[in-house]
This record gives sequence, C-alpha cells and structure tokens, in this order.
Amino acid sequence: METQKFNALMEEKTRELERIIGGFLPPEEGMQKTVLQAMNYSVLAGGKRLRPMLMLETYRMCGGDGDEIEPFLAAIEMIHTYSLVHDDLPAMDNDMYRRGRETTWKRYGEAMGILAGDGLLNYAYETALSAFERVDQSDAAAMGRVARALMILAGQAGVYGMVGGQCADVEAESCGTPLTQGELLFIHRNKTAALIKASMCVGAVLAGADAAQIRALEQCAEDVGIAFQIQDDILDVEGSSEELGKSVGSDALNNKQTYVTLNGIEQAKKDVTMMSERAAALLAQVSDDHDFLKTLILTLIHRRR
Ligand code: IPE
Ligand code: IPE
Ligand code: MG
Ligand code: MG
Ligand code: MG
Repeated sequence: METQKFNALMEEKTRELERIIGGFLPPEEGMQKTVLQAMNYSVLAGGKRLRPMLMLETYRMCGGDGDEIEPFLAAIEMIHTYSLVHDDLPAMDNDMYRRGRETTWKRYGEAMGILAGDGLLNYAYETALSAFERVDQSDAAAMGRVARALMILAGQAGVYGMVGGQCADVEAESCGTPLTQGELLFIHRNKTAALIKASMCVGAVLAGADAAQIRALEQCAEDVGIAFQIQDDILDVEGSSEELGKSVGSDALNNKQTYVTLNGIEQAKKDVTMMSERAAALLAQVSDDHDFLKTLILTLIHRRR
C-alpha cells in the first residue's frame, strides 16, 4: 500500500479506536475517584493503540462485521496499559516518563500506581465480558466465540504469557550470567508477543476464522511481537525520548539483558526486518484482503516511536 494512503488510513482508524476506547472508560467519581483518575490518566495519555489496531484489522480481514469486538478493543488496551503502569514502578523498571507524561506512580504515588494497574486489569475483564450482551444469546456459536476470545485474552495476559515474561525479565537483571538466545526469546515471546498474539487471535476468533487461519495468525503475531520488542530494545539505545514519549537508556540503567546487548545492534536490526517480513508473508495464508495489515507490519520495522 502506498505510504500516503496508509498514513491517512492509520490516522482515521486510530481516531475511531480512540473513540471506542474512550467510551469504555469508567467515570471518575465516588470515594475511589483517585484510582479511577489514575487509571484514565494512563489510558488517555495516548500511545500508539497498536494492539487494538491489530485486533480490529484482523477481525475485519477475517470477515468480522459486528460490534462485539468493541469491548475487546478497549480491554486489550487496558491490559496493555496496566502492564506499562506496573512495568514503570520503582520495583520494576523505575521509569519516570511514559506516553509523553510523568509515569502514573510518579504522578499519583506508588500505592495508586499499583492500584491503577490492578483496577485496569480487572476493569478490562469487566469490559470484555460485556461482549456477551452484544451477541444473540440464543446463538450458541456466537456465545462460544466470545467465550473463546476471553480465554485467549486471559491466558496471554497471565503467568503463561505477559506476566511470565516480566518475571523472567526482572530475574535476568540480577542473575549474574548472560542469557542464552533461547531464554531471551522466552522473555520477548511472553512479555511482549503474548499480548500481540491475544490481539490478533481474539480478532480472528470473534470473526469466526478457521483453525488453519488461526494457526497462521498465531505464528504471524509471534514474529510481529518479538520484532516489536527487539525494536523497542534498539530504540532504548538509539531512540529519542521526545519521539518515544518515554525514558530512553532505561535498559542500561537497570542492567537489563536485551536483544541488543546479546546480539549487537546491527544483528538486532537485521532480525527485526527478517521477522517482520516473515510475519507479513504469512497473511496471504489467511486472506487475500490483507493489504493494510501487511503494510502496518512492515512499517513497524522502521518505527521511531
Ligand atoms: C511498549 O509498548 C511496551 C512494549 C511491549 C515494548 P508500546 O510501544 O506499544 O507502547 P504505547 O502503547 O505506544 O505507549
Ligand atoms: C515491557 O518491556 C513489556 C511489558 C510487558 C510492559 P519494556 O520494559 O522494555 O517496555 P518499555 O521500554 O518500558 O516500554
Ligand atoms: Mg520492563
Ligand atoms: Mg520498561
Ligand atoms: Mg523497553
């Protein structure tokens, strides 16, 4: 797809996602107002909305045209945002700057940072569960698709997904020995690729994709997710905090073992390109109508934010 057309579509689609996500955020009222403010503070700070974008585009590519996807679009962004809020805490990466603002804990204090993350994670499921009310309750197949999507979301976010990857990531800071490539890939696959996989697979499952399509998308999402984290590691070294909207040099400060420290920056760049191209090529197995998603995946190779 031609760059200008892609950029215009991206802008339009991001606006649509902002509207949908915003519509699911809780009102800031009651005695728990502070935690609600802290939750919304981090979600409304912006961000690329890559995960809901991948979810919605996969859903549409697989022929989905309902609105039961909408609560899931908000839910994945809430879970992703919670992962960032907790990732920035002093006990984890100890970062002060995120999405162009002070991090949530820096702004609201550590206790509210923890609670805002908890609140977002739980609210994500409260929101996603409302998808059951958006399908015909007498349509067992449609109800089953929503249930399956929820299982994917919960599984990829948890100890066998993102939380598991964050555990290994934190322990690697102080383990005293270099990680093997396999161990590093475990971290990237879980801490980052898991939520990307959830995004694409929830979209596919809700649209009624078949087993072969879902297998291809799982593989595609894993490559996209690992490449995304390698590029994140690269940008932590040579990106600018103005463009990224978050602290740079955080990995070195934390003594983090990254794809760059293990493989060198030139190899890291080559691998981002190789994995992204491999991922984009898989889309042809899913649908002929994959032009936008393919361009999106290839554009991420050169992202600066
Ligand atoms: C940052 O994710 C954390 C990683 C998994 C690398 P994003 O780069 O997608 O962050 P936002 O959503 O745009 O803020
Ligand atoms: C974070 O990886 C992945 C998460 C699950 C949040 P990083 O720690 O590298 O993400 P940034 O660089 O802080 O966004
Ligand atoms: Mg981290
Ligand atoms: Mg971090
Ligand atoms: Mg990083």
